[in-house]
Amino acid sequence: MNIYSNIKIAYYSGTGGTELAAKTLQNTIIKAGCVCTLERIAFDMKTSDRKFDLLILLFPVHAFNAPHAVYQWLDGLETIRNVNAAVISVSGAGEVCPNTACRVGSMKRLCKKGYHVVYERMLVMPSNWVSLPPNPLPYLLIKALPIAIEQISHDILSGIIKKSSPLWIDRLFSKLGKLETAGGHYFGKRIKVLENCTKCGWCVKNCPSGNIVLQNGMPTFSDKCHFCLKCIYGCTSKALQPGTCKFVVIPEGYCLQHIAQRPPQNSQLPMKDLKVGFFWSGVKKYLLSLNTHQHDGSK
Ligand SMILES: Cc1cc2nc3c(=O)[nH]c(=O)nc-3n(C[C@H](O)[C@H](O)[C@H](O)COP(=O)(O)O)c2cc1C
Repeated sequence: MNIYSNIKIAYYSGTGGTELAAKTLQNTIIKAGCVCTLERIAFDMKTSDRKFDLLILLFPVHAFNAPHAVYQWLDGLETIRNVNAAVISVSGAGEVCPNTACRVGSMKRLCKKGYHVVYERMLVMPSNWVSLPPNPLPYLLIKALPIAIEQISHDILSGIIKKSSPLWIDRLFSKLGKLETAGGHYFGKRIKVLENCTKCGWCVKNCPSGNIVLQNGMPTFSDKCHFCLKCIYGCTSKALQPGTCKFVVIPEGYCLQHIAQRPPQNSQLPMKDLKVGFFWSGVKKYLLSLNTHQHDGSK
């Protein structure tokens, strides 16, 4: 039996991982018999004033915290009394140090607005900064998303309470991570437009912070960048390049559709036998927790 009937999902997404998770969750909740609406957090969003009995907030982890745009959205939320909320973070590395406190700040803001946070969870999608995880992890993460979402939907709708205990050191990392906001503004202002720019305006239409305008037909960047990397990876002619912090951008690019369509050769190996290295151990742990090894042929 569902304990909620009317659910609102609000999500922020840069390169599409969190958007895919939010849309999959919406479909799963609707299939379970609830009304569920979706609100995208972006500079041009339209907030609906429809009543709901559960708010689910989803965001990508940016520097061990929620992106600044999520805090801006939370600050603008109407104060409410005793409505439940769930907070789902989407990371590249999983629920490991230094990520474990990434939901603390947004949960505090929700409490201030009168929400009662009853559920929190970390999802993992292929990392869109610095480096992709080794194969076959990116492909398996996308394939495993519906399994994780099914679990979340079941937990939430049946009233399971789930709260994590962040590591104290990660609370510190999460606070330090807020410096990323200023770093993002600096990064965005310095994005370079190469000669092969076709002036198509894709970046202008798709920037979630409204940071890009066409001036004399050329994309021009202001200082509102959210550091989401959507423009750089999504540019149809690959004409945008970082002017600073180049290490943040994955040199081969980042496209979830491409990852999902090309199963790597080792995607059939049993998950427990895969050597992924220390840095990606949280991703392996996440996949094992979803029992994806049962789906890729091992026992
Ligand atoms: C600027 C930036 C900072 C990030 N910081 C973290 C981090 O601290 N921990 C982590 O696990 N992943 C981090 N990531 C990776 C994203 O959380 C991850 O790829 C997520 O799936 C992206 O979601 P999106 O596609 O909806 O934007 C970061 C990505 C960016 C662009």
